[in-house]
Amino acid sequence: RNGTSMASVASLSASLQQRVSAALAAAVPSATGADPLLRRSDRADFQANGVLGLAKRQKTNPQALAAEVVAALPASGGGGDDTIAAVEVSGPGFLNITVADAAITRNLAARAADDRLGVPVKEHPGVTVVDYAQPNVAKEMHVGHLRSSVIGDAIVKILEFGGEQVVRRHHIGDWGTQFGMLVQYLIEHPHELDHSAGEGDTGEASMSRLDRTYKASGALFRSDEAFKERARRRVVDLQAGDPETVALWQRFVDESKIYFDSVYQKLDIEIRDEDIVGESGYNDMLVETCDLLEKSGVAVWSNGALCVFFDDIKGKDGEPVPLIVRKTDGGFGYAATDLSAIRNRTGDLHADTLLYVVDVRQSLHFRMVFETARRAGWLTDEVTARHLPFGTLLGKDGKPFKTRAGESVKLEDLLDEAVQRATAVVREKGEKIGLTEEEITANGVQVGIGAVKYADLSTSLGRDYVFDLDRMVSLNGDTSVYVQYAYARTRSIFRKAAEGQQAAAHPELALEPAERALGLHLDAFGDTLAEVAGVYEPHRLASYLFQLASLFTTFYEQCPVLTADGGQAQVENRLFLCDLTARTLRQGLGLLGIRTPERL
Ligand code: ARG
Repeated sequence: RNGTSMASVASLSASLQQRVSAALAAAVPSATGADPLLRRSDRADFQANGVLGLAKRQKTNPQALAAEVVAALPASGGGGDDTIAAVEVSGPGFLNITVADAAITRNLAARAADDRLGVPVKEHPGVTVVDYAQPNVAKEMHVGHLRSSVIGDAIVKILEFGGEQVVRRHHIGDWGTQFGMLVQYLIEHPHELDHSAGEGDTGEASMSRLDRTYKASGALFRSDEAFKERARRRVVDLQAGDPETVALWQRFVDESKIYFDSVYQKLDIEIRDEDIVGESGYNDMLVETCDLLEKSGVAVWSNGALCVFFDDIKGKDGEPVPLIVRKTDGGFGYAATDLSAIRNRTGDLHADTLLYVVDVRQSLHFRMVFETARRAGWLTDEVTARHLPFGTLLGKDGKPFKTRAGESVKLEDLLDEAVQRATAVVREKGEKIGLTEEEITANGVQVGIGAVKYADLSTSLGRDYVFDLDRMVSLNGDTSVYVQYAYARTRSIFRKAAEGQQAAAHPELALEPAERALGLHLDAFGDTLAEVAGVYEPHRLASYLFQLASLFTTFYEQCPVLTADGGQAQVENRLFLCDLTARTLRQGLGLLGIRTPERL
């Protein structure tokens, strides 16, 4: 997409797994096109299971075919590709493959020489629109908005790193009948959103002003029929673009943005103004969207509403459940907006992939919206539209996360508490290594916010998970602070390294088991990212990083770095492994939106 990232295509280096796969495929001409089904294995570096299927298809004996493959592979050390050091047939025809130490170090050296750690950029990037971080105007954000934001931000970063052209869309809830009520209330109580003396422009103050207005207007709406009627007429004015009405509506949006900004700043997630295209942004398209649906016969009038029906979507009573695009009162709802947004995203933005990071409870909505858009021709076979549903955040009691009083938890309170807990953990360690109070505070934020994000990203999207701060900030276990700590450890090794001691790859050196395991995993970074980007599952990256941190910890325990007994070359090679580990952890955590403190 731009010159700098394209340039690194040239420095692309195949992973060891890809090299082994290629060598296997080349060994037997009859295997052309067959997948060797290579996996990392405990018995050797890799195990290939593909021979079994191939033998079945060719109606030959799998063990004989395996032996044929082995014989045809280039012998170790003998010219050509010397990636493979040893191959063994095992069981009914598996191949256990050991890679040469030199091949590992050489591959890692190529990664280290590249800013992108040898991770290739897509040759034919597509355009993906990611719909995420979509809170609602004039309302408090809830934990569902937290999940959408954290997951969406990671997916955006991972796709962009792979070279995809990503359009971010924050489809905020800034439209609908409630704004008639809110604006009408503001007209009748003009000072309602004014800042009172002493109240700054903080997110919290904004939210409390909005909340007050929301509650007061709602109460009036329920108790006063005449106000209700005025509010209803105000919606019509708003949708028609009446300037006074729109200006007052804008005040709600602006006030809410102050609040959203404060939460996103705390969350360390960048939301750009130009990417906020809320429901209101599609207002001008709604009439046309409905017309097109009606004219094409995709939607029909039923009981005064414009509806789309589906054979396979029925309610408990067996009656079909339609998607309502225009309500009986003539108003347009959530569905009309989403359909218009699809027209905009495919027709104007030329997206070939649409992703929606939204709560699992909206699954039926998206199923119906996508199907409708397909029937209308706005989604063609060339376009993939996917709802990436995420599960619910649970309290320790296993029920949806609430405060003790049963209210929904304020996001900011939750983030503040995470930072507080993390700071306590950081302080305990930090005092021993002489961190200043400033460093402790800064690290506490990075560890606390990292913990919240990591907990969210390390479970597979669809699953519910328990919000447990004690576990989330623990130094042991599958947590971000464990991974951050591994990073800080690499940095501390470099601070201790004497002048003149530097990282350098030495492919001539034999590797210890812990070095090989670490090296093979480092080499798989690019393959992991490609996989994650293909299936939109950030938890696979989280688990890769946790494993990397674990392998580094083992390496650190078993292989002294600065006091290595294999001489200067070994010290340099181990420093090289530390450096590549650090860069990989930093890049990987960065893609998850998690920072890496230098000293922990
Ligand atoms: N604002 C909605 C909510 O809070 C989420 C919007 C999801 N995106 C969409 N295109 N419908 O539930």
